[in-house]
Amino acid sequence: MGVLGLGHVGLPTALGFAEIGWTVVGTDNDESKVTAVNQGVPPFFEPGLEGLLRKHLASGRFKALRDVGETVRQSDILFICVGTPHREDGSADLSQVESATRVVAENLNSYKLIVEKSTAPVMTARWIERSILRYGKGKQEFEVACNPEFLREGTAIHDFLHPDRVLIGARSEKAKSWLAELYGPLGRPMSITDLNTAEMIKHASNAFLALKISYINMVSDLCEAAGASVKDVATGLGLDPRIGSHFLQAGIGYGGFCLPKDLKAFIHVAEELGVNFDLLREVERINQRRIERFVGKVQKALWVLKDKKLAVWGLAFKPQTDDIREAPSVNVVRRLRQAGALLRLYDPAATQDFRQVFPEERDRLVYCSSAIESARGADAILVLTEWPEFREMDWKQVRECVALPVVVDGRNCLDAATLEAEGFEYHRMGETSPTLKVVES
Ligand code: UGA
Repeated sequence: MGVLGLGHVGLPTALGFAEIGWTVVGTDNDESKVTAVNQGVPPFFEPGLEGLLRKHLASGRFKALRDVGETVRQSDILFICVGTPHREDGSADLSQVESATRVVAENLNSYKLIVEKSTAPVMTARWIERSILRYGKGKQEFEVACNPEFLREGTAIHDFLHPDRVLIGARSEKAKSWLAELYGPLGRPMSITDLNTAEMIKHASNAFLALKISYINMVSDLCEAAGASVKDVATGLGLDPRIGSHFLQAGIGYGGFCLPKDLKAFIHVAEELGVNFDLLREVERINQRRIERFVGKVQKALWVLKDKKLAVWGLAFKPQTDDIREAPSVNVVRRLRQAGALLRLYDPAATQDFRQVFPEERDRLVYCSSAIESARGADAILVLTEWPEFREMDWKQVRECVALPVVVDGRNCLDAATLEAEGFEYHRMGETSPTLKVVES
């Protein structure tokens, strides 16, 4: 089996298949990635990935090849796992899918099942088919199937090995049975449908997750205004199995490489086909407004932001990843810099990538190597990612090193009682701000 593209989806997929007993070759256009992978070094941080990579380089069930054509020739099933970023108009940029398809077409040496795993708009599989027919000149038989992936960054390996469902879009019995056999060892329910429907399910799933997050964020603002607790509202809502408790965490909004771009692409394709998707446009707008909402909260807590020293905890778009693509932190930091604040940034994994966006500057923006170091002398601590280590801080020690005991939690992840017991003023999303305590001298 071959995997084209060794990114956040491709590499966990390749190693996941190796783990359940298949022999996999992977490839990527980025040669440095192929070299690193073959040396046992994953090109990004993902829990458990390095161990699995080393295990299957040693077991011989996985290796990366430099030659994309050779990967195609060696495989009878090929998974296309290349990137599908969004273009300026919101549509999906399918150029990587197209070039992978052309290499497949030029290297068809036997029957192949070509599986679209990258998230792409409805009708992409049809285009893959057409393009292989065009460039492959009909020399060999092939079939295109669609098998969207639902793994999340940060829990990718677990999600691949324990999926809620395996979704297969295919035409022939042969393709369906090959894919069913491939995933058989997982023992998970399979949902088998046609190509367009499989593509639609993937986009509709990510868009629904985004909608759920924006919904709770909208409710969160009302809770704040009316004096209710969004955390308790989410718990109460989630107890209804028709709603479910997941993705009801209010905060500074969704980011990452998937939800934002898939929502855009879904809206774009709907509008192109003449279907009104204003509902999802509003989901996007609500998400964009989270940044101002959060900065407003910081401002409310501190009054003037100019020259305030702020510890920023968490830069990754979510915990357990070093990924900062579309992370809310990028816009929050941008806004706080505009307001003239002095920033001391800390993230357990994402600092290196964040530095590319905001190269180090002395005084105004400092990268710190620990949460406690970033808190030193701070007028407030801002939490932008819910890394577990923030919850486990020694708050007595933190209290001793900050200038002011103020925390603004953009992810509602800390324990209010612990912070308040140490004398912190604790501001959360979807809760009325604490009234300023007047300390009598
Ligand atoms: C998402 C989907 O959850 C996966 O099922 C899908 O396979 C993947 O996209 C993809 O298409 O490749 P991922 O982007 O890794 O996975 O991250 P999520 O766990 O969905 O989180 C996305 C964003 O939503 C994060 O910024 C997170 O902080 C935010 N979020 C999540 C909330 O603000 N509130 C919540 O309740 C949940």
